[in-house]
Amino acid sequence: MTDNIFPIFDKSLSALEKEKGLNQKGLVIWMVGLSGSGKSTLATGLENRLHQNGFHTMLLDGDNLRSGINSNLGFSEDERIENIRRAAEISKLFALNGTVTICSLISPTENIRKMAAEIIGEKYCEVFINCPIEVCEERDVKGLYAKARRGEIKNFTGIDSPFEIPKSPSIDVKTNEMTLESSLDYLYNSIIDKIKL
Ligand code: ADX
Repeated sequence: MTDNIFPIFDKSLSALEKEKGLNQKGLVIWMVGLSGSGKSTLATGLENRLHQNGFHTMLLDGDNLRSGINSNLGFSEDERIENIRRAAEISKLFALNGTVTICSLISPTENIRKMAAEIIGEKYCEVFINCPIEVCEERDVKGLYAKARRGEIKNFTGIDSPFEIPKSPSIDVKTNEMTLESSLDYLYNSIIDKIKL
């Protein structure tokens, strides 16, 4: 597949040169968790807080990507792998451009997360948005758990499709034990030193 392809990675400006221009370090904050765990809420909250503090950011949310670049993908295992592969490749480009990139995707298995970590490399920072499935189902903000229970959605994560608890996240945010404000403070304080140049 890579026959006749001649990448110019070594000739393009380095990440450090981009980072100096923005006075920040690029990082991929990869938020993992069940539907309804609080990923998107924390991702948008974190992006706002970073923006207010002068950081240049990008937010890549699973549902957003699935309405654009990933709109041809469903929720089979292979399609989820492809969904995460594309998201990881895109976030790598942003991070190498110096951007603080926040990704919020379920990323349900250790294998999928390992793939994302390998694609992104040292700029990968895994954050587990940690909330028990009973609480996510109780919240059911989008009404999807109810639909899955009625059999109207197949392969729903946590119901009839697996979600493996992350074994070694860099940051663990227990959203059912903290208020949104304190979850956000904890997350912000945990990443701030990683993005200062
Ligand atoms: S992932 O598993 O491939 O990482 P992703 O984060 O992109 O998932 O998309 C999850 C979102 O898709 C959920 O927040 C929900 O709104 C929607 N969704 C629709 N069908 C499903 C399903 N079968 N399982 C999980 N989420 C679903």
